[in-house]
Amino acid sequence: MSQAPNLEELQRQALAELAQAGDAAALETWRVRYLGKKSVLIQTLRALGGLPPDERRAAGARANQLKVALESGFAERKRVVETLALAAGKEALDISLPGGPVLLGRLHPITAVVREICGIFMRMGFEIAEGPDVETDYYNFEALNIPADHPARDSFSTFWVERQAGSAGPPLLLRTHTSPVQIRVMEKRQPPVRVIAPGRVYRYEATDATHESMFYQIEGLAVDRGITMADLKGTLAQFARLFFGPERKTRFRCDYFPFVEPGMECAIDCFACGGKGCRMCGNSGWLEILGAGMVHPEVLRRVGIDPDVYTGFAFGMGVERMPILKYGIDDIRLFYSNDLRFLRQF
Ligand code: PHE
Repeated sequence: MSQAPNLEELQRQALAELAQAGDAAALETWRVRYLGKKSVLIQTLRALGGLPPDERRAAGARANQLKVALESGFAERKRVVETLALAAGKEALDISLPGGPVLLGRLHPITAVVREICGIFMRMGFEIAEGPDVETDYYNFEALNIPADHPARDSFSTFWVERQAGSAGPPLLLRTHTSPVQIRVMEKRQPPVRVIAPGRVYRYEATDATHESMFYQIEGLAVDRGITMADLKGTLAQFARLFFGPERKTRFRCDYFPFVEPGMECAIDCFACGGKGCRMCGNSGWLEILGAGMVHPEVLRRVGIDPDVYTGFAFGMGVERMPILKYGIDDIRLFYSNDLRFLRQF
């Protein structure tokens, strides 16, 4: 061949013409011109054999690229033209065509995990309770032993909600945890109480791989005569075994939350390394999964439950953390960015 044809220009022109092809005849004319035996493309491909080997590779790759672009463009345009013709009633419906696959929906991974966790506690006799996302200062803080000047408020960066002009009432906020549901439940009924409360919570924080401004928590509460820390430990150990695997061990250490006394944090032995220490558990061998404790007598008193007669335990866990640990997910934001490539894996 004397001079290599300008394939870029050819592709541009071919695709521009293709976009104009409006019926089957025009499509066929286009196909013969650009993909037929005598087309520049096919001739170029044929002539490759005559090129010196070092030129052949690059020229071949480029010509093939063009071929793929033209063929897929053609197939796509053909579909469009056929669909339009069908819609215009020009062509009979071909009922022998196989149907396209119907994509089934699926549960969002967080919905699935919430249901799985609630299912585990329901089998232990807990029932589901719910509360509003927009809470009052009283339920989110005050009733939980966190008065306005309490330093614990700093650890809950709060989204405050402005009231409509003219509407009076207590300060509103987006709940920073699911613990206010404890108060709402205990206000309404007398012990025995055994509830699990899943829901969204909000924190006014910059997002990064481990922080979202909206995430899920699941709260647990049991109040009755004679409930002890042994009940709390047994319940959480059983949960860890059912959710993370039968060989899981649990560890309890002191922690502080104003609404429980004593308060603790619960960890499971790292299933990635079996407790030896690895990247996932920060070399500690343990993974923290939740906060818990015995309901503070002051909290019981405020909802009219006599702490000399009744005791209770409570716990609260972050939901996203569970699949993050279980499946080794490295960015919490993946759950809420609506990327189907991520969501379809569950
Ligand atoms: N509400 C606490 C938090 O969000 C967790 C918690 C719940 C701790 C119940 C103890 C008892 O951090």
